Amino acid sequence: MSRREPIYLDHHATTPVDPRVLEAMLPFFSRDFGNPASHGHVFGWRAEAAVEQGRERLARAIGAADPREIVFTSGATESNNLALFGALRARSPARDHLVTVVTEHRAVLDPARVLEDQGFRVTRLRVDSRGLVDPEDLRAAVDGRTALVSVMAAHNEIGVLQPLAELAAIAHEAGAWFHTDAAQALGKVPLDVQELGVDLLSCTAHKLYGPKGVGALYLRGSRPRVRLVPILHGGGHERGLRSGTLPVPLIVGFGRAAEIATLEREAEARRLRELRERLFRGLSARLGGVHLNGDPERRLPGNLNVWLEGIRADELIAAMPDVAVSTGSACTSASGEPSHVLAALGLPRERVLGSIRIGLGRFTTAEEVDRAVERIAEEVVRRRALTAVR
Ligand SMILES: Cc1ncc(COP(=O)(O)O)c(C=O)c1O
Repeated sequence: MSRREPIYLDHHATTPVDPRVLEAMLPFFSRDFGNPASHGHVFGWRAEAAVEQGRERLARAIGAADPREIVFTSGATESNNLALFGALRARSPARDHLVTVVTEHRAVLDPARVLEDQGFRVTRLRVDSRGLVDPEDLRAAVDGRTALVSVMAAHNEIGVLQPLAELAAIAHEAGAWFHTDAAQALGKVPLDVQELGVDLLSCTAHKLYGPKGVGALYLRGSRPRVRLVPILHGGGHERGLRSGTLPVPLIVGFGRAAEIATLEREAEARRLRELRERLFRGLSARLGGVHLNGDPERRLPGNLNVWLEGIRADELIAAMPDVAVSTGSACTSASGEPSHVLAALGLPRERVLGSIRIGLGRFTTAEEVDRAVERIAEEVVRRRALTAVR
């Protein structure tokens, strides 16, 4: 078989930097290299102006009332840690209860477990077979001691979109703050912290055609005013909430990436939905036993998570390194464990182990989708035949 360009269909793991983003970043590695905390000279001022422009662009992308509500971090993992530890420590001892969901990313579940080990009470809500949280379950879980409710906006494996506005309203009735991990949602689906009633929001540039190593946490400035206990201590950057010299080129890239994604979101979502349909139809036409995991409607435009009957996903993926898809989150894949997310949907083990996650992105073409269908179908047919004769 001829060697062909590999096809990247793993955009939930990370995305390539958009050339327009890279172009915006480049001057800040060399000519405009100043430290934004240097207030005494023009090098510092230029860097500070660039950071503030990045902050404004990001604030606009999520509908924040004031750019000062944005704190830059190293990524969504850090933002989630700051949100969970920061809020629980700030609100205790009167409020020492955290509510989250069994299908959250490890960057929420692991800090939640550490908080539990430290004596905080943690409730993990279940999801239905489509991956959605039932708002009534949240209503039953919150009480006068709930400090924070944390529910992911768009899922990194099955792409499902949780009913954030409804969940936030229930959290508020109990006097709890509402946090959402929007790492996969920003720039892909409408996201407005005012409309949704979100008090804290985590995001990251590298899922958005921006650079790796920069993220942000949005903190509502009023009604309620969210106050956090910082987890990093030092020079008092980011109004004392996140010490450390700001990575100016990364922040510039993040701002530009958020701006582009917001401007192009609707047209891009339509394009991705069509490509996803083409992919699903293509696989279903060539193979029997193709089943969608997660809610069919309420999901990210570029996400397809499918069970391909009769195969082991890890073996399939290993057999076609020229098509980049995955079994689940890149982080959990590193631990080699089957997806806790698909298991939480109540799916049988055979289905959990036989499902792949496909993430289409900005530079994915119809030709690539067709080629991926051919490669996947070819491998699945081969593997099913092998199992049949075994
Ligand atoms: C939903 C979700 N939360 C958090 C993260 C972690 O983000 P980062 O790589 O920016 O730390 C990811 C990405 O892996 C994610 O998909």
